[in-house]
Formats: sequence, structure tokens, C-alpha cells
Amino acid sequence: MTTVAFFNKGTSIETQKNWEKRLSLFIPSIKLVPLLSSEAKQATTALLWKAPLEKLSELKSLKGLISLGQGVDHILNSNLIPSNMPVIRIVDPYMAKSMSHWVILSVLNYIRDTSGYYNQQKENIYKPRDEINFLSVKIGIYGIGAIGSVVAQYLTLLGFDVSGWSRTKKIINGVKCFEGKDGFNEIIESSDIHICLLPLTSSTIDIFNSSTFKKMKQGVCFINAGRGEHVIEEDLSIHCKSGHIAHAILDVYRSEPLPKNHSFWKLDNITLWPHVAAETNPNTAAEQIANAIKCLNENIIPPNIVNRDLGY
Ligand code: NAP
Ligand code: GLV
Repeated sequence: MTTVAFFNKGTSIETQKNWEKRLSLFIPSIKLVPLLSSEAKQATTALLWKAPLEKLSELKSLKGLISLGQGVDHILNSNLIPSNMPVIRIVDPYMAKSMSHWVILSVLNYIRDTSGYYNQQKENIYKPRDEINFLSVKIGIYGIGAIGSVVAQYLTLLGFDVSGWSRTKKIINGVKCFEGKDGFNEIIESSDIHICLLPLTSSTIDIFNSSTFKKMKQGVCFINAGRGEHVIEEDLSIHCKSGHIAHAILDVYRSEPLPKNHSFWKLDNITLWPHVAAETNPNTAAEQIANAIKCLNENIIPPNIVNRDLGY
């Protein structure tokens, strides 16, 4: 029997059963048990999304933690995880494609003014609206890893001028790649549409704030599907209110669900999504998670292990 402790915040036992069914295709003897149950004490691995991490100290046989998402900040933000405990993340091409769909949808809605047409339809108005010519648009993507690099390439195929920013030097066909502090300034000052697809780490927290928003050109579009903590939200609200940021499209927030009294709800030029840009798909992710479980149980280093020093 391979016992895995499971916690996926906000989901029911059905979600756990579905994961167990998918994983059993690769590990027939697998049993998923709730992290909060006494059976979890038998677990050698844990499959987690936004879990109460203090519970993990009771699991004495743990060999590694697996994130149910591509991001691992929900695990590494805590200082409860021993530095030698392997943390593995999903890297699923399905999620990179799904995120690409969401980003393309957001970019096209913005340049074609979909919400303007939607409002006109409600008033029976049949009238062309101003359109931003895609040839004039420079897109800057912050974070060109497993997800951002795919998004960048799809956007170039649609004819956009795309730049990407990373920590280390990258070469991506058709994409202008920048790195480090100078590269950040280059992209932030020149882009018309800014897309954050960074992981949340001690180097990227609060990266979009009053000072960096001021570096952006007047009237830009800001899209965030990285993490809420990349943005000082009050500063974003101020820059949206003034029109310096013409439109913001957000999928992630410092506090989720977004509090009912948050200033974002009241701003017409902010489009809000409830953290759904690229959801984990058990059908496509199960095989790599099963492989990670097998590797950990056999004391082999699995693929997609997180660099604990870098935090992603
Ligand atoms: P990844 O493969 O680790 O890529 C991260 C990228 O960010 C890399 O290009 C990395 O640079 C760059 N980066 C990291 N720290 C940096 C720094 N200090 N300065 C400059 N660049 C830096 O991550 P991923 O799988 O693409 O996922 C990215 C994030 O997307 C996740 O962590 C998660 O927060 C978010 N996400 C959101 C959703 C959603 O539904 N909203 C879904 C999935 C993921 P290098 O290439 O040089 O390492
Ligand atoms: C979702 O936000 C993820 O990190 O997979």
C-alpha cells in the first residue's frame, strides 16, 4: 500500500477520490487519505494545495511534498518545512496551454474592447468602437519559464511584438529576452501590455508597486496571473483610478477569495477572475505526480524538484 496524505483547500472528498482514481492507473496500490485524518500518519508523501502545514510535523515517515499546482509558494511561504524535505511541483504542458488561452483571451478582449461592445448590445447600439491595432502593441511578459515561455510564443504567432523577462538568460524563438535589473527596466518602460507570470519568491514579492507602475507608459494594460503578492494592490487601485493604467485584468489576489469590500470590485477598468486562469487537470497531471511519488518512495530525486534556495 502506498499511502499519500491529501489536502486540496476548498474541495470535497470527491476531488480526493478523483485524484486517487487517476493515480491508481500508475500506482495500483495507492491510497489517498485526508491530511487531517489519523491514517495520514502512515503517509510517505503528501499531495497539497494550501494545506495547514503545521499538520505535516505529525507525519514522521514523509519523504517529500508534492504541490497540486505549478506554484509552490503555498508550501514554501511557511518556515515549517525542513530545508532538506524535497518539494516537487507540477509542470504540465496542459496548464501552459490553458494559461495561454486565458492570456490571449484577456489581450484580445482588451485591444478589441469586448466589454464596450457588450455594453452597447445591452443598449441596442450598433456602432464600431476604437480598436488598438495589434501591430502597435508591445507585450512584456515577466516570467518566461514553463508557462510564460509558451504564452510568449503563442502571442508571437498572433503577430504581437513580445518581450520576456527572466532571472537567467533565455533564448526563445521570436521573443526578445531580457534578464536582471536592466532587463526589467527595459520591459517595464517599453511595454503596452504587461503580463505577470512570475513565481512568488522573496525576490519577486511586491514587484509591482507605485514606483514600478510609474515606470510604465501612460495608458497601459496590466495582467496578473502570477500571484496576488506580486502586486501592492492599493498602488494598483490608485494607478487604475488615475488612468495611468488603462485596464487591469487580474486572476490572483493577496487574499483569496477577494474580500467583498476590496477596492478592486468598484473599479470599472479592473476585470476580476477568481484564480482560474490555468487550473490543475488530474487527467494530464496524474502520471507525473505518480512518478514523483514512486521516485520519492524509492529514494530517487524526482523531476521538477524545487530549488529551495531560489524558492521556485
Ligand atoms: P517557472 O517555470 O519556475 O518559471 C518562472 C519564471 O520566472 C522563469 O522564467 C524565472 O527565471 C522567472 N523568475 C523567477 N524569479 C525571477 C526573478 N527574481 N527575476 C526575474 N525572473 C524571475 O514557473 P511556471 O511554471 O512558469 O509558473 C509561474 C507561476 O505562475 C507559478 O509560480 C504560479 O505562481 C503561477 N501560476 C498561476 C496559475 C493561475 O491559474 N493563475 C496557474 C499556474 C501557475 P529563470 O527562467 O531564469 O529561472
Ligand atoms: C495555480 O495557481 C498554480 O500555481 O498551479
